[in-house]
Amino acid sequence: MSDREPIGVVGIGWVGLVTAACFAELGSDVVALDILTDKVEALRRGEAPFYEPGMAELLERNRDRLHFTTDMSELLEGRRLLFCCVDTPPTYSGDADLSRVDAVVSGLSGSSEHALVMKSTVPAGTGAAICRRAPELSYVSCPEFLKEGTAVQDFMHPDRVVIGADAGDEGAADALEALYAPLGGELVRTDVSSAEMIKLAANAFLATKISFINEIANVCEEVGADVTEVARGMGLDKRIGSSFLRAGIGYGGSCFPKDVSALKQLAGNTGYHFQLLNSVIEVNELQKRRVIGKLVKHLDTLVGKRIALLGLSFKPDTDDMREASSLVLAARLQGEGAEVVAYDPVSEDRASELLPAVTLADSAVEAMAGADAAVLVTEWPEFGELEWAEVAKQMASPVLVDGRNFLDPKTLRDAGFTYESIGRPTATPSS
Ligand code: UGA
Repeated sequence: MSDREPIGVVGIGWVGLVTAACFAELGSDVVALDILTDKVEALRRGEAPFYEPGMAELLERNRDRLHFTTDMSELLEGRRLLFCCVDTPPTYSGDADLSRVDAVVSGLSGSSEHALVMKSTVPAGTGAAICRRAPELSYVSCPEFLKEGTAVQDFMHPDRVVIGADAGDEGAADALEALYAPLGGELVRTDVSSAEMIKLAANAFLATKISFINEIANVCEEVGADVTEVARGMGLDKRIGSSFLRAGIGYGGSCFPKDVSALKQLAGNTGYHFQLLNSVIEVNELQKRRVIGKLVKHLDTLVGKRIALLGLSFKPDTDDMREASSLVLAARLQGEGAEVVAYDPVSEDRASELLPAVTLADSAVEAMAGADAAVLVTEWPEFGELEWAEVAKQMASPVLVDGRNFLDPKTLRDAGFTYESIGRPTATPSS
């Protein structure tokens, strides 16, 4: 029997499943709850509801310590720490929708035996409101910083662990600290409001870095500079750092777009106008439109043209297509009169639901055969292995817009492509 504290997890999305599986791996007995019966049944059979490297192995290895349920009473039995991992999607106004968090709190209010550990990303002030509503409940804010695609690795090797608790909830915070202790990483013990702000500010800052380098890329195109060289030179300054300076067609996913809007809206609700974040959002939207401009430059018109999209997920190593650039691009291309054919190594199921008017190919080469141009949307490693000279021969016209600066311009030029990327000089075949 492990001496690790047993825990409960509410909400089996990315954060919930990773939290459950990783704490089980560390020795805790874990019960994870979701309201979706199909999801719970699939997990009981050992099937993960999404693709995440390392997850299948974790589920298999920890079968005895990981239990999945739809029954709240099973979760509450003998477990003090309950991790709230339900999603907080944006509402039309950009505020975070807290209805699922509210439902969890309702299920627990009146209990003085349980501590709610908030992993869901919530606006600053949420913890204080929950404590007013359910004063008997212990409450700790413990934001999650994992990235999809490297989620297990990120959880097991955190840069820092943030634990926010207010007076009276130190016992629950200490228990949480003990659970995280084997993982190392700098510990930030703070108050609830500051912990909530750390999460929003960190995501908004990373999104700002991306929009900043994307604007630098756009200027590089005008002055003939190469943004990858510029980012390299900037990033070596330790005050700047080299990460999140990859220019491209903008950020997507379930977190950055949502959290940037939520922080902007949170500030707005207090009467503070967060100027910078408006620009961060606008630049991110404009960046996708620039791809259309690049295609038109080479094809004159998109009407009746066949355009291949390479990659549909919002980044590699995930099948998540929430707020993916591919969705915006496919809609815009179709709006311009183009026929869109796409390939993604793992997102085919999600794509057939989300992009019903797009033809899905079984391989990148099949998608590009007969196409007038291709756009690399997601930097899946397999796109780096293609025989580009062979692909060029099969396309109606070998034009490629690399939205992630993933491929080598010289290789593409030598293969016969007109190759455009983001913030790097255009490469055209010499003969
Ligand atoms: C992000 C944060 O990185 C995590 O720390 C955080 O925990 C998570 O949100 C969350 O709040 O749950 P994630 O959305 O999984 O993680 O993915 P990232 O790897 O951060 O990528 C986000 C987007 O930015 C992707 O579309 C990616 O292509 C884009 N990106 C990233 C760039 O365009 N340039 C870069 O240099 C880096």
